[in-house]
Amino acid sequence: MAHGTARPARSAVFGHPEGHSLSPVIHRLFGEQCGIALEYTAVDALPEAFADTVHRFLAGAHGVNVTLPHKAAAYALADDRSAAASRAGSANVLTRQPNGRLAAHNTDGAGLVRDLTERQQCNLRGRRVLLLGAGGAARGVAWDLLDAGVEELVIANRTADTAAALAASLGVPQARARYWQDLGELGRFDLIVHATSAGMLGQPLQRPRSLAGPKTVGYDLSYGAGAQGFLDWTRGAGARVACDGLGMLVEQAADAFALWHGRRPDTGPVYARLRTGT
Ligand code: ATR
Repeated sequence: MAHGTARPARSAVFGHPEGHSLSPVIHRLFGEQCGIALEYTAVDALPEAFADTVHRFLAGAHGVNVTLPHKAAAYALADDRSAAASRAGSANVLTRQPNGRLAAHNTDGAGLVRDLTERQQCNLRGRRVLLLGAGGAARGVAWDLLDAGVEELVIANRTADTAAALAASLGVPQARARYWQDLGELGRFDLIVHATSAGMLGQPLQRPRSLAGPKTVGYDLSYGAGAQGFLDWTRGAGARVACDGLGMLVEQAADAFALWHGRRPDTGPVYARLRTGT
């Protein structure tokens, strides 16, 4: 949606607790690159106040980003839902359409696949992939990994039933659940995607080193301190690449930006600045 006024385009990321979201700086850099004046803030919204706060904000804005713990609520709030949001059952982007209806999108999975394939040189076609976790974050990326042509998507979760339910909902033979205690029997994977919240909660996560080898890419969907434990484990297991979710964050933001402004920014320079802290 392009802007026709000289007023800055308003947007925000809604989360709780607000923490130190990188989204405002990412969108500011995108706006500078594209010559679009933006006013992008971070809003701390309690779950019980989420719907009202978003509706009020969207009365004067094109769209918002949504992060934890509001992604399922954002999906429920929408009038219309993209295919990616419907498959995930959650939304990380809400847009206000010209007819006033609220549309939910999910750009997380596409962001992960783009970061993996374009930045990490990780070709997914025909690969063995292990998805650790079966909550909202895992659901948000599972379909996109399958769409990218992975040969096998093994899902393991602390609560085995949740992994089985996710595999069943994907409904393809490539996706299957395995018990966490059986991870040692599964051999090496080409890609291990860490989608549990254990790191962010500061809780230890046991998994056998036999899962990774010199060709393995280990990818944590989070970034910052929450990703450190998985990255240390991945490097210790001898993996080729140990990567956090910073690139995915930038890519999913670029897709949101494109939805709002009709133009996808070049993510390379923005990623480089965030990675080097400049
Ligand atoms: P998110 O949206 O971040 O995915 P979520 O939907 O609450 O949050 O899912 C959290 C995921 O992390 C789940 O897969 C959860 O496992 P359970 O289904 O067994 O709860 C996983 N998780 C959280 N803490 C964990 C821990 N200490 N060890 C292993 N898995 C953990």
